[in-house]
Amino acid sequence: MASRQLWFSFLQLPGTVPMKMCAMALFLSILAAAVWLGLSMTTPESSGGGANPGGEEEGKGCVPTLLPKADIGLCGTLEVFYMELGNVSCKIIPKCDLYRQKITTWPQPIVKFPAAMDGAQYLLVMVDPDAPSRRDPRMKYWRHWVVSNITAADLKAGNIRGNVITDYQPPTPPPTTGLHRYQFFVYLQGDRVISIPTKENRNRGAWRLQNFLQDHRLQNHETSTQFMTEHDGEFTPPDY
Ligand SMILES: *[C@@H]1O[C@H](CO)[C@@H](O)[C@H](O)[C@H]1NC(C)=O
Ligand SMILES: *[C@@H]1O[C@H](CO)[C@@H](O)[C@H](O)[C@H]1NC(C)=O
Repeated sequence: MASRQLWFSFLQLPGTVPMKMCAMALFLSILAAAVWLGLSMTTPESSGGGANPGGEEEGKGCVPTLLPKADIGLCGTLEVFYMELGNVSCKIIPKCDLYRQKITTWPQPIVKFPAAMDGAQYLLVMVDPDAPSRRDPRMKYWRHWVVSNITAADLKAGNIRGNVITDYQPPTPPPTTGLHRYQFFVYLQGDRVISIPTKENRNRGAWRLQNFLQDHRLQNHETSTQFMTEHDGEFTPPDY
């Protein structure tokens, strides 16, 4: 009995070695395929991070570039942050990772004034002076956002809320109109009551910002900033 078992296991032994080798070879080839597949799938995706050596070119382009010298006049201590992009103050929002397109769907940015004075009340105005284009700004200013009665604490935290006079409208630069400037101004409101007549508030384009400021006796802004971007997506341009 025992000898038969031994004989049997001896017989089995030479059979299992090729089987194990076969299984090992199969396993290795599956592993290799998985690694190759994994690499080819993750390479284009991770290139947006900027730290990936495989996606150098795209990664570099995904860092917003600084505004040209001629446009840094409004660069103050105001900071604007969009999700995914972070700080866009005084920068050009790049095309890569569809950032220019995304900016049309992202909700309102964080707008932060770290030096806001405790107890003060502020007014925020966001406009596009390049409507429909910088070369032909006949619809200047396009009013994107007006919020009054913002507390210093909220402005320090970048949480824009208060009395929303004009709802936030994201940038939607039309095709072939080049780079648009999106400008943010913060005014010390004091005890002024800020309003825009209903009729005037109906249209965003051709807003007379200077008249609005004069009417409210607002002279100089406390701080400001701007960023730039242009159309590159497939969305329908707004009606001008
Ligand atoms: C945001 O960017 C502006 C312009 O480059 C810079 O002055 C400011 O310090 C930045 N703020 C933060 C919090 O990174
Ligand atoms: C905004 O502030 C002004 C000035 O302090 C005040 O008269 C007004 O009632 C405030 N409006 C709202 C909606 O809080």
